[in-house]
Amino acid sequence: MRILIEKDYAAISRKAALMVAGQILLKPNSVLGLPTGGTPLGMYQELIRMYDRGEVDFSEVVTFNLDEYYQLPPEHEQSYYYFMRHNLFNHINVKPENIHLPKGTCADVEKECADYEESLRKAGGIDLQVLGIGVNGHIGFIEPDQRLSVQTKLVSLTKETIAANSRFFAAPEDVPRYAISMGLGAILNAKRIILLASGKSKASAIKETVNGYVSAQTPSSILQTHADVTIILDQEAASLI
Ligand code: PGA
Repeated sequence: MRILIEKDYAAISRKAALMVAGQILLKPNSVLGLPTGGTPLGMYQELIRMYDRGEVDFSEVVTFNLDEYYQLPPEHEQSYYYFMRHNLFNHINVKPENIHLPKGTCADVEKECADYEESLRKAGGIDLQVLGIGVNGHIGFIEPDQRLSVQTKLVSLTKETIAANSRFFAAPEDVPRYAISMGLGAILNAKRIILLASGKSKASAIKETVNGYVSAQTPSSILQTHADVTIILDQEAASLI
């Protein structure tokens, strides 16, 4: 694992955006694995600025998001489809047909998960996976559990995740209890992975990710087994390593 400690959130965002842009410059039809949440917002804003300046072209890029809340329709303001459209896709020239997110409102969730894996397989897998991390060490919505989940599947969200994400909803009861999350198989199959973390609340999860045992209790720790992972942290997120 390569660990970069930056001075603040703006510096993390800039570095991550440069890495994504570099990936696209080297391979214009890159398959990107993308996260949602507060952490990647600065990176997305930086990528939009680079696009506006003509420095990066998304016309051949293919995207796969990590997850989507189960049963939230795409037009719901807290759906990840809505988040991605408003925070990135509406502002760049990625083709709609190249955008993939699990469908939260699918009628048959097992089929939806199998279809998502199949689309990823057909796209040739992920070239660059960008990850955030939960306070409990989740990546995507792969939550701490007795077992690590390899396949894309319906997952129940933990209390910690519901509490952390309730800041985006009117009330904690409004946070969906389930989500469809990409599994570790697809993430570990990515050629290159970058993980971003900012703030004190992530310091303990980062310590376990970097120095802890590989364990289903800290899903992010499995990244220790991948050959090309870069972790980009601000001083606070790095304070326990
Ligand atoms: P955050 O979420 O970026 O909003 O902290 C990260 C995550 O839960 O993976």
